Amino acid sequence: MNHFTYKNKELYCESVSVSKISDKVGTPFYLYSTATLSHHFRVFDTSFADIPHLTCFAVKSCSNLSVLRLFSSLGGGADIVSGGELYRAIKAGIDPKRIIYSGVGKTKEEMINGLQTGILMFNIESEQELDRLQEVAAEMGVNAPVSFRVNPDVDPKTHAYISTGLAENKFGIPIKEAGKTYMRAKGMPNINILGVSCHIGSQLTQVSPFVESLQKVKRFIKALADHEINISYLDLGGGVGIKYRDEEPPHPEEYAREIIEEMKGFDCTLILEPGRVIAGNAGILVSKVLYTKRNEAKNFIIVDAAMNDLARPSLYDAFHDIFPVHVKNENIHDESLEKADVVGPICETGDFLAKDRLLPALSSGELVAVMSSGAYGFTMSSNYNSRPRAAEVLVHEDKFYVIRERETYDSLIKGESIPPFLDK
Ligand code: LLP
Repeated sequence: MNHFTYKNKELYCESVSVSKISDKVGTPFYLYSTATLSHHFRVFDTSFADIPHLTCFAVKSCSNLSVLRLFSSLGGGADIVSGGELYRAIKAGIDPKRIIYSGVGKTKEEMINGLQTGILMFNIESEQELDRLQEVAAEMGVNAPVSFRVNPDVDPKTHAYISTGLAENKFGIPIKEAGKTYMRAKGMPNINILGVSCHIGSQLTQVSPFVESLQKVKRFIKALADHEINISYLDLGGGVGIKYRDEEPPHPEEYAREIIEEMKGFDCTLILEPGRVIAGNAGILVSKVLYTKRNEAKNFIIVDAAMNDLARPSLYDAFHDIFPVHVKNENIHDESLEKADVVGPICETGDFLAKDRLLPALSSGELVAVMSSGAYGFTMSSNYNSRPRAAEVLVHEDKFYVIRERETYDSLIKGESIPPFLDK
């Protein structure tokens, strides 16, 4: 469910016309709906109401301060993977005791930051990282709360680039070897073992791989108990998919039902790290048609958003629906459609938002909405081709707020300098 709907042949976000925002803000811009973000968060979180749990939003999917503040106000925590994400989470007001720190390569400085902030725990992914954390915690004279991310070797049946729980992936510690790591950690004076975590991939459309990895993790936790290592938190990661096109992902309630069933009689707080399922369909990318052109092979619609704004189509061949902001008929399907590639201005053949897409005829100046762009949209954007990054806008009922200004040319060169030997 989302709050992007047509009224009088015009696309609205909640009660605000998308083209009105474009008149004020210019294009391209990311547009998020507060109602959709809140609804998705609440549905997900309350699906687990029957068991002790903590929903830690995956900051990497959509990291704007206002979005994080919204989840914090709804009782959410944060799953972070860098010092930068920790900084954002704290600035947004997320309770440090609801922050978990994932990622394969935490630096010493990042560990110090996390310890000083008093986060709930670090998800440690290797023996060397464990040694480093022990060292840092000892220097600071504190205890470091940890989980280890185990790699359960389960096929998430998703895109190869976003599978993380297979033996061949770089993530976690193989579950077969993790027992040794826990035993070593148990003997470390500044390490406080709290949990076991796993995350097998993203955009999963079936519940069974989650259940399979949960079963493996449960067996593992029972084996740890035999060695007097008691686990209080079981972190199942993120990964629930969304509908971009014709996928049929599980509803969060269905996902929760199966997970809760597995958790029965298991005395652990469940941690969840959803990103896409909360933010994905709560945001769109709005762009303007610059030109259209036709060659012998194809029609092209050249828009002012590009792969630097939304990398997913170029990177994963991902499908995002593209709709005109103004439609000519009440029912978009009544329009006469023509196949075209929707491309950006970047000098790369791989710069496209859609390929061979059936679209109504669009002409210069018209606005289009690239749907399902709320997760891994703005956060993966870059300045490639020296393009200032887009603005981010949040709608709340009948008002809109610019929550990140469009970058300027000055912001493009901020921090750069020319050494004296190059002086004119
Ligand atoms: N927890 C960990 C440790 C993760 O690595 C991720 C995502 C999540 C949670 C959140 O997963 P989600 O619920 O959003 O599926 N850029 C790719 C997705 C990469 C996901 C990376 N990790 C894309 O655009 O599809």
